[in-house]
Amino acid sequence: MNNFEALIENLDPKLFEKIYSQSTEPDKKTLLAIQSATRELKPNYNYLEIGSYLGGSIQPHLLDDKCAKIYSIDKRPAIQPDARGIDYLYENNSTARMLEKLNEVAPEKMDKIITIDGDSSEISTSQVPDKIDLCFIDGEHTDAAVLRDFKFCQSVLAENGAIMFHDSHITYIGIADSLNYLDEKGISYRAYILPHIVFVVEIGDFPLHKNPHILERLIDNHQSYLFSLQTNDEFRRFANRFPFRQLRNFMVKRRKNNISR
Ligand SMILES: C[S@@+](CC[C@H](N)C(=O)[O-])C[C@H]1O[C@@H](n2cnc3c(N)ncnc32)[C@H](O)[C@@H]1O
Repeated sequence: MNNFEALIENLDPKLFEKIYSQSTEPDKKTLLAIQSATRELKPNYNYLEIGSYLGGSIQPHLLDDKCAKIYSIDKRPAIQPDARGIDYLYENNSTARMLEKLNEVAPEKMDKIITIDGDSSEISTSQVPDKIDLCFIDGEHTDAAVLRDFKFCQSVLAENGAIMFHDSHITYIGIADSLNYLDEKGISYRAYILPHIVFVVEIGDFPLHKNPHILERLIDNHQSYLFSLQTNDEFRRFANRFPFRQLRNFMVKRRKNNISR
């Protein structure tokens, strides 16, 4: 077993060590578990992600000989809107900088990376001529962008494949809209959350959940539930502050919504 095989089999976060990635340790393990399950179902898989920044989430796929192609779609805007109501800034965010960093990880494997600058509303599916087996949505964290990215991913996905969302505690409305979209189209799927906040949608016959690594993380998904609610608790604390608490109480009493009959 070579070093890479041993590291992925152990879901070792060392596979993320060369490029900074905005993921928690449990998320890194989940991403590796999904990668491990994907390469088992589909050796020679194609990976696509929307939102790459420095290439942190690309690095384990770059190192993987069972990953044939990597598509990285990133608009790299100066300011990124976000459903939490705060605009986020990514300084020095460029494709050239990402490629430089990835080149330090595995220079001999760089030819499998295809970069596309833009967002999913501006680019054509013909720019992704390969059928994709695994997608990761981690671009603009707004409801509309998440649904748009999901539709793009679904349209380039192989008949059987999976789409993951990062930061699902922020993008949950876009995720719910994405599942409604599949329901409306009559497309069968299985969807679940893995610790901390990676939401997975298996489309068609792509049973990642049967992989022991995924099963183990599924059983531990209390971590996802609690992490998401605890992270979002700042909004409840805000709503309970003076004068919002008093105002809410006043409105509820006026409408008599606080009475159980
Ligand atoms: C959270 S970072 C990605 C982090 C990366 N996946 C990782 O784990 O290291 C978000 C990225 O999304 C990109 N982005 C922002 N808005 C976008 C959009 N509308 N379409 C595509 N990418 C976008 C930003 O340029 C940024 O690089």
